[in-house]
This record gives sequence, structure tokens and C-alpha cells, in this order.
Amino acid sequence: MSASTPSGRPNDMSPEEFRRHGYQIVDWIAGYLHDTRDYPVAPAVQPGELTDALPRSAPNGPEPMERILEDFKTLVVPALNHWNHPRFHGYFSVSASGAGILGELLSAAVNVNGMLWHTCPAAVEVEQVVMGWLRQWLGLPEVFFGMIHDTASTSTLHAIGAARAASDAGLRERGAAQGLVLYTSAHAHSSVEKDAMALGLGRENVRKIGVDAEYRMSPTLLEAAIAKDRQEGKRPFCVVSTVGTTSVTSVDPVAEIQDVADREGLWHHVDAAYGGGAAMLDENRWMLAGAERADSLVFNPHKWLFVPIDCSAFFCRRPEALKLAYSLVPPYLSSQDNPRAVNLMDYRIPLGSRFRALKLWFVMRSFGRDKVCAVIRSHIAWARELAAEIAADPRFEVVAPAPMSLVCFRLRGTDDDNRLLLERLNESGTAFTSGNVLDGRFVLRIAIGNIGTTREDVLATWEKIREIAAGL
Ligand SMILES: Cc1ncc(COP(=O)(O)O)c(C=O)c1O
Repeated sequence: MSASTPSGRPNDMSPEEFRRHGYQIVDWIAGYLHDTRDYPVAPAVQPGELTDALPRSAPNGPEPMERILEDFKTLVVPALNHWNHPRFHGYFSVSASGAGILGELLSAAVNVNGMLWHTCPAAVEVEQVVMGWLRQWLGLPEVFFGMIHDTASTSTLHAIGAARAASDAGLRERGAAQGLVLYTSAHAHSSVEKDAMALGLGRENVRKIGVDAEYRMSPTLLEAAIAKDRQEGKRPFCVVSTVGTTSVTSVDPVAEIQDVADREGLWHHVDAAYGGGAAMLDENRWMLAGAERADSLVFNPHKWLFVPIDCSAFFCRRPEALKLAYSLVPPYLSSQDNPRAVNLMDYRIPLGSRFRALKLWFVMRSFGRDKVCAVIRSHIAWARELAAEIAADPRFEVVAPAPMSLVCFRLRGTDDDNRLLLERLNESGTAFTSGNVLDGRFVLRIAIGNIGTTREDVLATWEKIREIAAGL
């Protein structure tokens, strides 16, 4: 039997087929990105409706790509909540920019796994380079080692795990020590507490520190809580501050919290998952002041840097602690020892990772810092304008300062009125947003952050809210 090397990929699409379907899909995407406003933001579907419309079992034979694409358009798209819509204002608005989508496409095509330097030098080195660029945009010093995770929840989990390892060198062999306590604000994202749960620290060992009138963690209350825990024989080991809280985008006093962490020997992790975007602007440098002394920081380019989900930038000044917590090298993964050959698997729980840095590289290069800052600055300006409009309408009240691009407000009425307003707005298809409970009252949140959003979109959302409120 003689072997001859075949050309192409016998069991996959031919290049002609790929081009044909690829062009069709790129055409669809180009139209979608241009015309997203024509779609109702949230779908008018009932739970289970899509499931019932799809076959119960997978096909045994091949189906033509035309039919798959048709089903995507007629079944899947009508059940989408359009997060990439310019009037998607729920949670924190996100953006898949054209450059980010193209980077994502290439990443899927090359399909590399950046677990070790030698499993894909390009993935590892582009990641290190873009994290260096992002570090500069965020004003962090070079000592911070950077890597990309899927989400901020994962980045923070890695930070807390490293903090625990750094607090006890024997942890790897003996398991976690008892009595460790973590501190964060009452307004921190739930991922901090969930990460503590997942790491086996126990929710009862997470202290939610009180905030001031502007929802910022109080360093005095933090110190008092640490002192109390020490008196009771506990072991304070980590504090997580937030720059841009989910509830109101408040900014914890990072430098003062760092002073406490220094005095008390605590690891300080800064959650700037959303707020990092705002903090990149020169006029907002104060937001991250002190973070240059922190142990770790997370910022999500998939929130406010126009990169498609998922992309979470994690910076750590103590990579040796990450290694202590997460490095384990079996023989089948051993590789050369070269200080320039970074093996990402040594610093994290997952072994493998896709080439997420590529989409970030595309976005950072195709926008450049000035344009990124100009877009973010306009989001912040429109949020201020919206807050002023809301405050000027006697039917409404703005319930918290809006230092970034989130406006929290409510109708002067009952919680039920406010819930109804939210429901009607989302049903309208004009805009989509989400609610929260702040100081015991139900409030609405309008987050501005999509690359396609214009001032007119924000005004249209406000107009719709006023119209619905008038009819309640
Ligand atoms: C401040 C903050 N931290 C963490 C998270 C969690 O983000 P992810 O979905 O990337 O885990 C969020 C999500 O909105 C957030 O607002």
C-alpha cells in the first residue's frame, strides 16, 4: 500500500463551499450589524417555544448548510435577546465590534490551544503583548503579569485562590486552612461571594463591609471588621474592592483600601470588570489610583472595550502565587524551561484556552486608544445628560450618582409600578433594561455601553419610558 498525501480536508467542506457559505454568513452579519435597530431588542417568545420548534434528536445524515442557515434566521434569531442592539441597556451593555468579530472568526479558524508556549507560540505571545498594551491603557506598572480568562468571575476566582495560596505555603499539600476570611463591599458583585463558595471558604467567611452615602466601601469599617476577626482568632487574608459596582458603578477608595491591606498583610484584588473602561480616560485616572499597588485586578474587554464575549483581562503582580495555587505539570505536559516561553497553564485552573487575545488585538489596533476613549467618553456624557433629564421630570427620581455610564432611577411610586414600567419597556421592543433592589426599593438601570449607541438612541429610550409612565 503506498501512501500519497491528499490535498484538502476530505471530510470537511471544500474551499468553494466554505467561501460560498462564508460569504453568505458575512453578508448576513454585515446587514445585522447595520440594521440591528430594526429588531425588537428582546424577543417575544415563551419559555420552551424554541425547544419545541427544534428536532428532539440530532440528524443521522448531513443537512445542507442552506437549511441550517435558514433555521438560524427563522428560529434562532427571533429568540435572541439582542445584546448587540444600540438600545440594549440591561445589566452592563456590551459590544461585538466589527474588528472584534473578525478576530473571533480567525481565532475559530486556526483553532489553536494556548496551554503551553510550544503548543502555540503565537497565542501565548500575542496574549502577553496585548495584555501589556492594556496594562498601559489602565495605567498599571509593568510588574503586573497579564493573562486572559473567559469571565471576571473566573479572573476573581483565580485571584482569591492565589491569595489563599500566598497566605499559607503548606496549602498545596495539606489543603485549605480553616478560619480564612475575605472582605468585600456590600455592593460587590455576587461573583466574589460565589468564588469564595466555590473555593470552599464558606459564605459565612465573606464579610460584606458597609458603604458610605455614595455606595463606596468604608476603609474604617473594613479595619474594624478585620480587627474583630483577628480578636476571634480568624485569619483575614484578602480584600476585594470594586471600581464600578454593578448596582450603581460606585468607586471604592482603592488607595485607602490598599493602605489597610498593606498594614494587615492582605491580598488586594480590584474588580474593575466594568469600570476599567471609564478609568482609561485621562480625566478618570483617579478611579484606579492605588490599584498600581494592588495584588491583582480584573477588567473585562467584553464589557466596555468592544470585544465580543468572552474576554476577561486578569492582571497579577504576584504570578508566583498563581503558580503556587495552580501549577501542576505531569510528564505529558512538561516543556522547555525558558523564561521567555510562558506556559499559561501554570497560572490557571484550565489547561487549554482558545486564542482570545486575537480579537482584543484586532480591536485595540483598529480603534486605537484615542477612539476607544472618545466612544467611552460619549457614553458617559449621554448618561449624565439622561440623569439630568430624569432628575428634571417630577415623576421620577435618580437614586444614585452616575460617575460612569449607568443611570439608576425609579418612578416616584410603588415597587410594583416600577416593575410594571420595566416589563412594559422590555415588551415594547424599543429598548431593554434590567432592574435591581437598592436600599430596599426596586429601581431601574439604564447602562450605556454599546458601540452602536447614539445620543438619539438614549433619548428614544427615555422617550419610551416617559410614554409608558404616562399610561400607567
Ligand atoms: C463589577 C462586576 N464584577 C464581576 C462581574 C461578573 O462578570 P462576568 O460575567 O465576566 O463573570 C460583573 C458582571 O456584570 C460586574 O459588574
